[in-house]
Amino acid sequence: MEKLVIKGPTPLRGEVSISGAKNAAVAILPATLLINGICTIENLPNVSDVKQFCEILKFFGAKITWNNEHEITIDTRNISKTSELEITRTFRASYYLIGALLGRCGKVQVGLPGGCKIGARPIDLHIKGFEALGASVEVSQGNISARAKKLEGTSIYLDIASVGATINIMLASVLAEGTTIIDNAAKEPHIVDVANFLNTMGADIRGAGTDVIKINGVKELKREGTYSIVPDQIEAGTFMLAAVASRGDLLIKNCITKHLESIIAKVVEIGGIVESNGDKLRVYCKKRPNRANIKTLPYPGFPTDLQAQMGVVLSIAKGTSIINESIFESRFQYTEELNKMGAKITSQGKSAVFDGVEELIAAPVCVPDLRAGAALIIAGTIAKGTTEIYHLEHIDRGYEHIEEKFKKIGANIERIKI
Ligand code: UD1
Repeated sequence: MEKLVIKGPTPLRGEVSISGAKNAAVAILPATLLINGICTIENLPNVSDVKQFCEILKFFGAKITWNNEHEITIDTRNISKTSELEITRTFRASYYLIGALLGRCGKVQVGLPGGCKIGARPIDLHIKGFEALGASVEVSQGNISARAKKLEGTSIYLDIASVGATINIMLASVLAEGTTIIDNAAKEPHIVDVANFLNTMGADIRGAGTDVIKINGVKELKREGTYSIVPDQIEAGTFMLAAVASRGDLLIKNCITKHLESIIAKVVEIGGIVESNGDKLRVYCKKRPNRANIKTLPYPGFPTDLQAQMGVVLSIAKGTSIINESIFESRFQYTEELNKMGAKITSQGKSAVFDGVEELIAAPVCVPDLRAGAALIIAGTIAKGTTEIYHLEHIDRGYEHIEEKFKKIGANIERIKI
């Protein structure tokens, strides 16, 4: 067990470089199973979800070579259809194994996905998509198995623009016969990244990033290729909000400004100043942030994955703010932790009211989920006194070298073994 100890308050100043997108990485790694060959993935974030996914791929027969901290070569010439079920249960993105292995082998069995406890998180839309493509799917005793003699392209309308279902159906239909159309598809940047990866490897996917994606099935993918993962939209947004919360000044390098438009708009509304220059973004704030109302929405709306980080900013803003969480129903668990630090937040169901306080006061807090973990680190850097943060395993799933990055921009932060 480890904890983070943060002494605050400190304005965060300096430069921070954004890593590859964790949510793209955990979809591209299983997507490599569709290739009967060898491919190299660059700009992988060094986070525990990625390492764990590599272990899972090994269970399915992939050979993995780490070329350096951020680059691997994966040989998927000898793949088996089933694996140890327990390992796939531990995190959310293991559901992508179903689409990828259905596509590659026509048969798969995995444990039902786990992941952050932020709401019900069903996978009915994924299953509906696989069935529409011709697979039979069975869920029993905590496992999900799917098989198909042949997958055939079809039109699939998603009742909800689900990120996971969009990517999973895309994976299952890349090698299907004929054309698949996904209507009301999600548009998040990592969906485009997965499509770009698959197209680099010889797939024929059009329209990713819009709400209609067309996948013309191909017989096989290329046997060799290299792909570099897109920068992480959520990590960039986290540091933007850290700059505002701490009344600091950060130069955020290696980000795609286009992916950050909804966040830039809100940062400006609450009094932050944003200057963009190519793949760099300078964000600074000299005064106490203004109040604002936020509603989380699918991309290009304000991301649910930045809701908690924005919550920290609003907890110390001038006046009263309201956040409506429209994606996941249990995403306000962090507000209890912030209240231990002197925040005045009342949450009920999918909304929370933030009565801004002048300052936060350090307290021991527990991380309830991945993004809330980053939010609590921001809270620790702006709070008066010594904050202790427990349950770092959630943070390590998706943020690379987080305390080193915060230390480099001036935070007084240490990771300590308990
Ligand atoms: C992904 C991201 C997560 C992010 C979320 C929303 C990954 C690994 N995780 O999660 O970080 O917070 O998108 O941007 O990329 N739903 C159904 N049935 C389904 C699928 C989803 O009802 O079959 C509902 C969910 O309960 C949720 C909403 O649709 O209310 C959106 O979920 P979805 O976009 O699928 O999120 P994830 O893929 O789980």
